[in-house]
Amino acid sequence: MAYNIAVYVGSLRKASFSRKMAKALIALAPESLQLEIMDISKLPMYNEDLDESPPEEWVLFRKQLKDCDGILFVTPEYNRTIPGVLKNALDVGSRPYGESSWDGKPAAVVSVSPSAIGAFGANHHLRQALAYLNVPAMAQPEAYVGHANELFDEDGSLTNAATIEFLRDFMRAFADWVATIKG
Ligand code: FNR
Repeated sequence: MAYNIAVYVGSLRKASFSRKMAKALIALAPESLQLEIMDISKLPMYNEDLDESPPEEWVLFRKQLKDCDGILFVTPEYNRTIPGVLKNALDVGSRPYGESSWDGKPAAVVSVSPSAIGAFGANHHLRQALAYLNVPAMAQPEAYVGHANELFDEDGSLTNAATIEFLRDFMRAFADWVATIKG
């Protein structure tokens, strides 16, 4: 039986490199992982006042998160940290207090940027929040994907053989990581 992996993409842009990367990673994943990109674009901004009567989007998001076996984050970097849409998802999933839906889920982080340093800042800011949320994030291999504007053809397919091999290995390692944590 395959593990169900929720994929969270930190960009809402139609032509997002991160979204293309998420789709490429799904295509390269071993059969033991069943991955699905989750929509976080409609999540109302987290507001503690709404905790007693949460919006239905929050309720659904938390349920889907609780039901998954693991998480793959694919994110760009905004101003050296993660985009607000992804931070909002982290916050919504972390509440109500004491009932975080993130707790214990094995995860992996792929950061994506047209710049050379591959959104290192976003990758590590995300890892900091994940450590607090008790989300065991795979340490190695790391994936800081730079020059993202040069990686895809017009159909959104990866063009570089070395990149494809690296990402295939990354997804194999992630599958092993999920199996290790889930037992
Ligand atoms: C960026 N971009 C960017 N890139 C980067 O490597 N480090 C950064 O700190 C930032 N900061 C930043 C802030 C804001 C508000 C925007 C809109 C953009 C550029 C960013 O990497 C580029 O727009 C990517 O294409 C965004 O990712 P998607 O949408 O292609 O996945």
